[in-house]
Amino acid sequence: MANFSTPLSRRLGLRYPIVASPMFIVSNKEMIVACAEAGILGSMPSLNARTIEAFDADLAWIRERTDKPFAINVTIGLTDPERLEQDVRKCFEYEVPVMITSYGNPTRIVQEAKPRGVTVFHDVINLRHAKKAESAGVDAIIGVSQGAGGHAGRINPYVLLPFLRENLTVPVIAAGCISGGEQVAAALSLGAELAYMGTRFIASTECGATDDYKKAVVDSDHTDIVYTDQVSGIHANFIKQTLPDTENPDRTPEGAKKWKDIWSAGQGVTQVTEVKPIADIVDDIVREFHDARARLG
Ligand SMILES: Cc1cc2nc3c(=O)[nH]c(=O)nc-3n(C[C@H](O)[C@H](O)[C@H](O)COP(=O)(O)O)c2cc1C
Repeated sequence: MANFSTPLSRRLGLRYPIVASPMFIVSNKEMIVACAEAGILGSMPSLNARTIEAFDADLAWIRERTDKPFAINVTIGLTDPERLEQDVRKCFEYEVPVMITSYGNPTRIVQEAKPRGVTVFHDVINLRHAKKAESAGVDAIIGVSQGAGGHAGRINPYVLLPFLRENLTVPVIAAGCISGGEQVAAALSLGAELAYMGTRFIASTECGATDDYKKAVVDSDHTDIVYTDQVSGIHANFIKQTLPDTENPDRTPEGAKKWKDIWSAGQGVTQVTEVKPIADIVDDIVREFHDARARLG
């Protein structure tokens, strides 16, 4: 299947301009290696390794299996400062090619990453934060639009992506509800240089989510997704059936108190219909992308 690319995907050495985005608890080292083999950028939050020793072991495991690019996400404001510092050092030690910063000011990390040749992406939901991150020197801005899995924005991607592109000088990466190749084509046509996909990859064989969670992603559609700040204090999207039932506390699902048991996913669950290996998901996306382009004539 023919490759397709953008300046940023070529700079990173990817076969396709696609990122399997970092997901707390859900993404893992197996996904990173499968993504690398499939020609896209895999990632995981450093905190998915419970301890710094486990994180070291994960990076060594990945490094033994691939020399292709991958990314590690550091959640600045949500991570204990000592652990954050250790995680950043580990990324430098293992020469992690791409760091994705979120929930905080990336300035200090960028200052240390740049001289080491590390590419830094930063995720935002509005232009104000995008401008700050651009001034800090990040290489690309991830615009997280309405309906995304995890902490999502409120702006429709048709507005957010061209708006960020017009007001920034660094490349823009599109996040939110991109679950197939049609949406990848749409994101690139709006000027994004990479498509950042989370929810689609929860339903992958390699993913660390439980089988019940994967099944819920496959079985749900957008009417099952609730946007609320009641779980973490920041607005995010969750599968309704796993949230506490505030009107009927007796019907609250067993254990629905913690982020681990309250499953996050975006409105893009509608387009997720099967659990598959990452290689097959990427094949599907690439085929759908070319079909979408052909439809445009
Ligand atoms: C279960 C889940 C956990 C997430 N955890 C993180 C995280 O730890 N750090 C982060 O930067 N983004 C996190 N995100 C956001 C994703 O990286 C990405 O922005 C989002 O999934 C894109 O939207 P989509 O799910 O509609 O494709 C999470 C998303 C989900 C669904």
